[in-house]
Amino acid sequence: MSEHPLIELIDIHKAFGPVQALSGASLSIMPGEVVGLVGDNAAGKSTFMKVLTGVHQPDSGEIKVNGERVTFRDPGESRRTGIEMIYQNLALAPNLDVVANVFLGRELLRNPLSLPFLSVLDEKLMEHKTIELLQRLKINVKSVRLLVEKMSGGQQQAVAIARSVAFEAKLVIMDEPTAALAVKEVGKVLDIINNLRADGVSVIIISHRLQDIFNVADRIIVLQTGKTIATRKTKETTMDEIVKFIVGGVQPELSTIASGR
Ligand SMILES: Nc1ncnc2c1ncn2[C@@H]1O[C@H](COP(=O)(O)OP(=O)(O)OP(=O)(O)O)[C@@H](O)[C@H]1O
Ligand SMILES: [Mg+2]
Repeated sequence: MSEHPLIELIDIHKAFGPVQALSGASLSIMPGEVVGLVGDNAAGKSTFMKVLTGVHQPDSGEIKVNGERVTFRDPGESRRTGIEMIYQNLALAPNLDVVANVFLGRELLRNPLSLPFLSVLDEKLMEHKTIELLQRLKINVKSVRLLVEKMSGGQQQAVAIARSVAFEAKLVIMDEPTAALAVKEVGKVLDIINNLRADGVSVIIISHRLQDIFNVADRIIVLQTGKTIATRKTKETTMDEIVKFIVGGVQPELSTIASGR
């Protein structure tokens, strides 16, 4: 592991009109680390991550990548530093196949005649790269030419994860990746997260399902009404303790508010 955290978010504040969505949210993550981000409904989890992906601009606070301060004015800037987010609704195109979804908006082209404006989709190369990618992540699908709408929720989640890491992501943020899944499929998604970690990719997983968080996360960060109130190594805490932090039965820990570590 390198010395610097891959990402640090320090004392982020963000208001939407009268709603103070974030008021001192902090988090750090090391390369290849899996962090669970938990908190009650409306605690600010999604908003916090949208600050990191450049969807929202913070009112105050700092973002650092590899120890250097950055600003993300739009999602493109965040993505170009290797940050990818999978949203609650997945944002897949259901009527397209796996290959098309993995390369959606970033299609590979070829220009067989080397003439200007005569590029065509390089279907073979995209198919080959998709198969390679799924193998790397140990994701099984019957065919990469299957339409995504014909796949189970868990397989769709797997495609969304594959799509997110297809372009050298260093950090993948997953917002409730297991909420809509059958039990058997949950295990598969958690396996993929473990494979990402083994590949050195960092993962932030937002979930209300604490058993999933305890299953995959190295560390757990609790947001309460927009503030980071606790950070725990998974091995050094219990579900009881985390639940107490979530529901607000425990006073914030001053040391964790500033650093998120
Ligand atoms: N675009 C927006 N405009 C106005 N208010 C917003 C916006 N996005 C979020 N909020 C408000 O900010 C607060 C935090 O919302 P957020 O979606 O980040 O919570 P969350 O922790 O992700 O909740 P959940 O677990 O229900 O997904 C809420 O009060 C929400 O209504
Ligand atoms: Mg949310």
